[in-house]
Amino acid sequence: MKRFADHLAERTARRTAELIVDGASAQMVQHLDASIAATRAAAHEEAEWQYRQLEATISLTAVLPLRAPLPRMRGYPISPDFGLAVVDAIDDTGAELVVELGSGVSTLICAYALEARGRGRLRSLEHLPDYAAQTRHLLERHGFTDEHVEVRDAPLQEVTVGDDVFPWYDLRAVDDLSDIDVLVVDGPPGPSHPLARLPALPLLHERVRPGGIVLLDDGDRPEEQEIARRWREALPSWSVDELDVEKGAFRLRKPM
Ligand SMILES: C[S@@+](CC[C@H](N)C(=O)[O-])C[C@H]1O[C@@H](n2cnc3c(N)ncnc32)[C@H](O)[C@@H]1O
Repeated sequence: MKRFADHLAERTARRTAELIVDGASAQMVQHLDASIAATRAAAHEEAEWQYRQLEATISLTAVLPLRAPLPRMRGYPISPDFGLAVVDAIDDTGAELVVELGSGVSTLICAYALEARGRGRLRSLEHLPDYAAQTRHLLERHGFTDEHVEVRDAPLQEVTVGDDVFPWYDLRAVDDLSDIDVLVVDGPPGPSHPLARLPALPLLHERVRPGGIVLLDDGDRPEEQEIARRWREALPSWSVDELDVEKGAFRLRKPM
């Protein structure tokens, strides 16, 4: 079966041949050759990522005991491969407490991953009441109705970290939380501040238990790379890995 990229490359090659017949300049032919190669490489890379998300979705649906269809992923929601990284972190730490910043499909995945292990609580902070309601509805639809899973309203408020002020979740929403095994950082969203997610570790690192894991989504964005750089600088004893996932991600682990 021919791939789309190969069809495209063949069509462009035919057009190149026509141009040669038409007496087009060697420079133009060279230019077309280069764009064929670039198009082919980009399309192959895209196809590879699509396939990897499909693989990750199949794995997620195999390991999570789903009771209803998963909503669409990617874009604002996490991508399937990051979802797998969350499930891995929950398994790896034997999580008793997962805290999430930014609710949605990821909340559902955390809830199922804890359920599959037979224990653990999830607290998900959400700053927008409409999204909080939407996530609660999603959880209900999937049968998560008890106190193990909770979406907490946490409107953004000004917090000071170092010399900067950030709009970040109302800290009262984490007052009772300590010994966090897994912290998933997928909010607040970028538009609220370029380094919107930076406060997460300065404010919560003491609440993460030794050996606990912090996952930062969207690691391909320059802003998240800057956040990870600053976290690394502030917490040099933590290990930091970059995950090879669709949107990029960082996984940090607190030393034992
Ligand atoms: C990156 S999203 C979090 C997504 C979530 N972790 C998930 O997997 O679905 C960060 C925040 O953006 C907001 N949000 C979610 N979907 C949105 C959308 N389609 N447009 C604008 N804001 C959105 C919500 O407040 C959410 O907490």
